[in-house]
Amino acid sequence: MDQPAMGSLPNLLTMTDPTVLTGSALLPRFQALDRFLLRHQHLWRPRPFTHLQLPWETQHPELAAWLRSRSLADAEAAHNQPELLLAPEPFTGLAQESLALSALGDLPTHERAPLPANFAVDIPGRKWQQIQAFAACLSFNQRPQHWLDWCSGKGHLGQLLAQDGQALTCLEHDPALVAAGAQLSARRGLHSQHIEQDVLAASAASQLHPEHTPVALHACGDLHVRLLQLASAAGCGQLAVAPCCYNRIAASHYQALSTAAQASDLRLSVDDLGLPLSETVTAGARIRRQRDSSMARRLAFDLLQRELRGSDEYLSTPSLPVAWLHKDFADYCRELAQLKGLPTPTPRDWDALEQRGWQRLAHVRNLELLRNLFRRPLELWLLLDRALFLQQQGYAVRLGHFCVSHVSPRNLMLLAERQ
Ligand SMILES: C[S@@+](CC[C@H](N)C(=O)[O-])C[C@H]1O[C@@H](n2cnc3c(N)ncnc32)[C@H](O)[C@@H]1O
Repeated sequence: MDQPAMGSLPNLLTMTDPTVLTGSALLPRFQALDRFLLRHQHLWRPRPFTHLQLPWETQHPELAAWLRSRSLADAEAAHNQPELLLAPEPFTGLAQESLALSALGDLPTHERAPLPANFAVDIPGRKWQQIQAFAACLSFNQRPQHWLDWCSGKGHLGQLLAQDGQALTCLEHDPALVAAGAQLSARRGLHSQHIEQDVLAASAASQLHPEHTPVALHACGDLHVRLLQLASAAGCGQLAVAPCCYNRIAASHYQALSTAAQASDLRLSVDDLGLPLSETVTAGARIRRQRDSSMARRLAFDLLQRELRGSDEYLSTPSLPVAWLHKDFADYCRELAQLKGLPTPTPRDWDALEQRGWQRLAHVRNLELLRNLFRRPLELWLLLDRALFLQQQGYAVRLGHFCVSHVSPRNLMLLAERQ
């Protein structure tokens, strides 16, 4: 009889006790995650998409064969909760370790005063849920006097917070968003300032003052790191950050912030920093099909290019307009080969090659499930680096979830206040 391939969440979670991380709990958790990530880097660093065979497959042949025997639909079903998959060892053991090390509590929430009618009419549904969840978790010992919405977009978050009567400054570099934000503020009866500012420019430092309470919802890589550095240097009493896109950095490798992370042997490339972002919120069927076709074609082309170049190595290809998916597959390959300066491929059974791409896609997606067990531990490692940095700057820090993962997979939040 077939074994059910997914375990039940409660069984696995009984071993963990999710709490919000604070104070002296930050460093030991960081160190445990650091050890876990370092010990198993041979499992999570290589990307199945770029390898015909992963280096760990010879070490764990039973697991590799099991994963390779599964379908694309099986992989899709397990994608967002790979920890529940009952796969051969070392998968299950690593899954339990991953769950235990990633366990984190929800930040406490508080009720907010009701908003004026129509406040949210212009805000897309999921973004509005994220903003409300973020705002509900903000609690500081000192009542904020002046909110600073960092990389604010139109400033919906800041405008929600400023409903309580505090001052508001929004910093954003896109002039269209700055103008739209100023208009919205006026319509909402707020006297807020919307400033066009590149937060990475040297001039950004002068925008921060000790009385500010900076908030940053989903500011990418360098943008939120810059806030942590400038806000602590300016002496801001408190701040709240929910990071995203850890891989959007100017450097080729991650620049650790805290002493603990600087001392770690873990050296993270931009590619590695993309791992936590690989969890997808369920896309519609049409978008999924498009994404899969594009990947299957790329994987098939990868087989072809290895033959054309006489080299068994992956060759990166540029992202292509969706219209390329409607090309005949033979034309797709010929034109992509030309774009990459490769010899024109000889005629062959193009359908069979495209089919091999689909087969590879099923393999890739299933093999990725092992890598995905390290997605959350790596994200928490990155958050703890930020938390420990703020602690070093004299802040008391709380780290927890501010929303559920289907509202946003980037659902971790740091709250910091000067002690
Ligand atoms: C993911 S959006 C988040 C927007 C807003 N916080 C929200 O949650 O709706 C990131 C924002 O950062 C802005 N941004 C990107 N680079 C920037 C920079 N160098 N300086 C200031 N803002 C920037 C973008 O224009 C965008 O509005």
